[in-house]
Amino acid sequence: MQVPTAVREQLANHSQEHLLYGWDTLPDADQQVLLDQIAEVDFDLMRQLFALRSDKHAAKESAATRADRAEPPSPLVRLPDSPEDRRRWQTADQAGTELLQQGKVACILVAGGQGARLGFDPPKGMFPIGPVSERTLFDWLCGQVAARANRAGAEIPYLIMTSEATDADTKRYFRERDFLGLDADQVYFFRQRSLPAVDDKHPRLLLDRPGRLSTSPDGHGGMLHALHTSGLLEQMADQGIEHFYYHQVDNPTAIVCDPAFLGLHLQYNADVTTKVVAKAFPKEKMGVVTSIDGCCEITEYSDLSDAQMAATLPDGTLKLWAGNTAIHVFRLGFLQSLVDRRIELPFHVAHKPVPFLNAQGQRIEPGPTENTAHKFEQFIFDVLPDAAVALVVEGDRAREFNPVKNKDGNDSPETCRSALLRIHREWLTATGADVHEAARVEISPGFALDAEEVARKIPAGEKFTGNVVL
Ligand code: UD1
Repeated sequence: MQVPTAVREQLANHSQEHLLYGWDTLPDADQQVLLDQIAEVDFDLMRQLFALRSDKHAAKESAATRADRAEPPSPLVRLPDSPEDRRRWQTADQAGTELLQQGKVACILVAGGQGARLGFDPPKGMFPIGPVSERTLFDWLCGQVAARANRAGAEIPYLIMTSEATDADTKRYFRERDFLGLDADQVYFFRQRSLPAVDDKHPRLLLDRPGRLSTSPDGHGGMLHALHTSGLLEQMADQGIEHFYYHQVDNPTAIVCDPAFLGLHLQYNADVTTKVVAKAFPKEKMGVVTSIDGCCEITEYSDLSDAQMAATLPDGTLKLWAGNTAIHVFRLGFLQSLVDRRIELPFHVAHKPVPFLNAQGQRIEPGPTENTAHKFEQFIFDVLPDAAVALVVEGDRAREFNPVKNKDGNDSPETCRSALLRIHREWLTATGADVHEAARVEISPGFALDAEEVARKIPAGEKFTGNVVL
């Protein structure tokens, strides 16, 4: 087919005619895919983003400079340390439980990332993580949602954000696995936008190959736009949902829809509540939750200098200790108000080695440190400064934060599997069970969500000598 005149003109106006490279040799179907991709591009936005690509072009103060004024976050609820604290957490737990029983909570899982660091090609949620069962991350998380809904006696809609890269495989996987114990109509997939990669030096969008733009997902902050355009924000409000529990696909030990966390969020009447854990060491690759000029913010590790990461308080403890677990609760009305006020989250620029088709039609495959392109992402935690109340709650790191990020070393499948086995051993031994040193006992979310539930199901003194999945 011929390139529609309007498309040719549009590309010429934005100096992007190279996107039509090899048009005449493309099969009809590929020509159509390219036209669809071009139709989705916001060329003006891409030009603005290109201008943002380095600090010298950025109009606003850089994150690194702002971080000089960063203080520990407030309001902050630390882990309970006294009988009074424990009573407060129990009251919060009760409030969160009632909220779940009233069916006012939905759960959002962000699963649009490409998981490059793990070196696992399919969507990361399909990674087998069960130390004995090899159940996948998706299976683990869905199991928690199903068990929590069961306990509450009310439905918890599970909203799963996918991207162009993960959408088809994720949906197929859920269908083939019968929605992993959830009702099919309890699961809502919504897809985030893709944004084109832009050449390192020129405002040229890159082709991955003839007829195909090089694109990547627009960051987990794209959730706001995607929730709105999919109609899910409105639909959830119509269904009586008032709060979203939000989590990432990489952490099976997150306490999904944690009642105490939800309850604290309610008690503080917060717009957003964020779970933090103490950083393991100053240079750990975690974002930190801080207060800057009285406003709650998350500063990414890549924006902090070594000195900023190592700074201490007068008592010698780490100043920026509050590591972001990326577990939040959002009040639906707050997200709706951001959409209504057309608040655009800022874009963050990443300089990456992206393969591309050069002007001569050769595909260039850069080495791992050869950055050829800029990618642009929004981060959901950039909504924090807009919150009237942004509460920060400390979690128990060993219990709740064991993500799978890297192939090996820290935050790897190995550390995560050991954490699951350790947690489950603790639950069992707390009931008086006898778990042999070499036994690997895995507890499915459907069997128990916590030590108390294990205690109700396992007689004291029960012996575990081999590998078993409960
Ligand atoms: C993230 C946080 C970091 C935090 C850490 C905790 C950012 C920028 N940083 O780091 O502050 O300490 O988690 O584990 O988020 N995702 C999408 N769409 C995208 C990009 C990502 O859905 O376009 C999802 C991924 O599927 C994943 C999650 O967001 O579930 C996190 O993405 P990732 O890039 O792995 O974040 P980290 O760099 O590990």
